[in-house]
Amino acid sequence: MQGIKISGIASYIPETVIENDDYTSFIETNNEWITTRTGINTRHCALNMPTWKMGSLAAEKAIEESGISKEEIDLIICTTVTPDTLIPSTACYIQNELQMFGCMAFDINCACSGFVYAVDMAHKYISAGAARNVLIVSSEQLTKVTDYTDRASCILFGDGAASAVISPADRPFSSFLGADGRGAGFLRATSVKPVPNPFFALKGAEPDYDPADNGKLYQDGKEVYKFAVAMMPQAVKNVLEKAGLSVNEVTRIIPHQANVRIIQTAASNLGVDMDKFYLNIQKYGNTSSASIPIALTEAIETGAVKRGDRIVLVGFGAGLTYGAVCLEY
Ligand code: UT7
Repeated sequence: MQGIKISGIASYIPETVIENDDYTSFIETNNEWITTRTGINTRHCALNMPTWKMGSLAAEKAIEESGISKEEIDLIICTTVTPDTLIPSTACYIQNELQMFGCMAFDINCACSGFVYAVDMAHKYISAGAARNVLIVSSEQLTKVTDYTDRASCILFGDGAASAVISPADRPFSSFLGADGRGAGFLRATSVKPVPNPFFALKGAEPDYDPADNGKLYQDGKEVYKFAVAMMPQAVKNVLEKAGLSVNEVTRIIPHQANVRIIQTAASNLGVDMDKFYLNIQKYGNTSSASIPIALTEAIETGAVKRGDRIVLVGFGAGLTYGAVCLEY
């Protein structure tokens, strides 16, 4: 089966920085609680820039770095849980901005596992001969849905984008993906508000949705935590088994950046040093599907990941979804 490589990768981080102390003006919290319970010091906020624009800025850089012309890219997959519009997809806005008219373009919503799912889809399109190169754009503005009255969740999230060009290559690739819809209620946001529907009155029915549900993100932190500490190491083990590799044969694991304690537990469960995991949660917080490619971009820029290194990308998130891919950079 045809393998893949990441031929270009780049991120876009919005300028505005939110410090832990910034929260103390509207909720009861403190820097010490946030850093010790989550590992987060700062996160970024996009303020007036739309999700599609952040993604486009990252994508332009990733394409330039790949050396591949836009005409050779047959598919744009945008991963986002925070689109600017329900219709059309964010991928179509990005396609327009990049002037890549004609190629396939769609969004996927796999929450924080989005980038991992998208890499697997890119591999499947490329190996089936349905796309020469695939552009993945992971762009998120969690600040649009965060509930700033919930102190346990609002300190976690930030905005950011990253993009990667995936190309065919004679290199091994393995993936392990899944979802458990029994946990769908643990992490959710109702951002689609039903319109006033005249047929309720005409047909004598009452709407059964709660008008007080204003679309903010709800998280049962403890349930998601339990899921994450079990699933993150399991997904790594499963993908390595498929790849026929031991964890020692992998240079670096790039995990979803949700909570440093989750990553520490995963490291201890796998019996590896924390050094094996690339961490930048302290700077960006949780940026959902953008967190893994933002971390990978930074790992490459700082030399923590080099060409030819074997890496594992592992994510988990709302759905509940999970997944890992193993590839050579
Ligand atoms: O990509 C999405 C995936 N999401 C995740 O991975 C999130 C997974 N869950 C977590 O990371 C953790 O559950 C949280 C960071 C969300 C919360 O940490 P926790 O250790 O589970 O805290 P908790 O909710 O059990 O709260 C412990 C205490 C409580 O006080 P009492 O009842 O013990 O007096 C909270 O009220 O900490 C209090 N607390 C805070 N105190 C200061 C909760 N949030 C804060 C806060 N500042 N921001």
